Amino acid sequence: MPITFNKDNLKGFLDDSDFEGIRIPLIKAHEALTHKKGLGAEFTGWMDLPGRIENHFLSDLKKLAQSVEKSSDALISIGVGGSYLGIRAAEEFLKHDVKLPIYYAGHNLSPDYHAHLLSNLKKKRVSAVVVSKSGTTTESALVFRIVKKFMEAKYSAKELKKRIICVTDERKGALRKIADKEGYQTYVIPDDVGGRFSVLTPAGLVPLALAGIDVKGLVEGARSAQKEFSNGDFAANAAYQYAAARYLLYAKGKVIEVLSSFYPHMFYIAEWWKQLFGESEGKDKKGIFPASLTLTADLHSMGQLMQDGTRNVFETFLMVEKSRAKLVIPKDKDDLDDFNFVAGKDLDFVNKQAYAATAFAHKEGRVPNMSITIPRSDAKSLGALFYFFEKSVAISGYLLGVNPFNQPGVEAYKKKMFELLGKK
Ligand code: PA5
Repeated sequence: MPITFNKDNLKGFLDDSDFEGIRIPLIKAHEALTHKKGLGAEFTGWMDLPGRIENHFLSDLKKLAQSVEKSSDALISIGVGGSYLGIRAAEEFLKHDVKLPIYYAGHNLSPDYHAHLLSNLKKKRVSAVVVSKSGTTTESALVFRIVKKFMEAKYSAKELKKRIICVTDERKGALRKIADKEGYQTYVIPDDVGGRFSVLTPAGLVPLALAGIDVKGLVEGARSAQKEFSNGDFAANAAYQYAAARYLLYAKGKVIEVLSSFYPHMFYIAEWWKQLFGESEGKDKKGIFPASLTLTADLHSMGQLMQDGTRNVFETFLMVEKSRAKLVIPKDKDDLDDFNFVAGKDLDFVNKQAYAATAFAHKEGRVPNMSITIPRSDAKSLGALFYFFEKSVAISGYLLGVNPFNQPGVEAYKKKMFELLGKK
């Protein structure tokens, strides 16, 4: 079952003529992307990536994972941005598959965070995977220094060659230099795939495979999405419909998109999505601000603002068709809480009604909303969802008239930080 997109709750905000009006720009965006003629075309290698991943690479990763799992109790995954969020999104969503727990490092510069992490790992057998496309990112470089020292105190240089894996550029960057000098195992992130699009490159697949995640399933899902979402017919392409709806809402003053899910295990998918959309679209003084909520928890904190605050928001619900677990609400003989009326129902049924009620209420409160539904909480569905969003944001960026594949804005703070740190 494929990903489904529902825009019924946009009625009253967008009509057929809005969608008709965007047909030509969409065709142009599709042509530019498909024929690599648009802005940033040199970074569109993610488009046919799923189809290019070799099955023997996935089988080799499985073998590597089996040996790392035998020798380790924990995996330290060092990286930030696109070298962190996709890994975390998949690991949290597919937690049920995890055989080797991941400890995340290098996505912040907090000494307390990292000291606590290393103290938890003191007595554990550890392996580490360092992911950095540029190989020069401050957070991952400094934390790798610290982790390397921690591991050098535990293991011989020979043993470290088995326990440290670097995923980086084929030739450039400090991480490449360190890996070559020390003889660590390396995997390459292709030149034509940018950081936030890299989850299906070794940047995501290596750490995820080491943790025991079904990377074959992820890639299979992405391969079928690659086929499904290459269709230039707008009406038949859910990724394009989503991109078009966002663009049209933005043009009507809805400058914030809230991605709401009803599943805590999707929290980091939303974090990954924020980077993908925020960094791809937020430039040239344009872009929708991507925010996220996890419901129903956030209905008890942000529900008021969503229902009745400034009306510059639209909402995209991220749904899962079928939950993994079945949890039936028991009947209670006293019924003191008055909830026997739902006894015998699955908790997922109640969760789905909470969604239906929220979508209805927010629409009534003038928040246009739409939904994206994946079939299951499994690797295939997630691989397809990753690809769906990548394709959508590329089209969406082209509709906006920006280059969705660069990120010149992130340099400003780095420049100042280096100046403050006294870098020559
Ligand atoms: O999308 C991007 O390119 C960035 O957000 C990077 O993912 C992030 O800065 C980390 O970069 P690197 O992988 O080079 O360490």
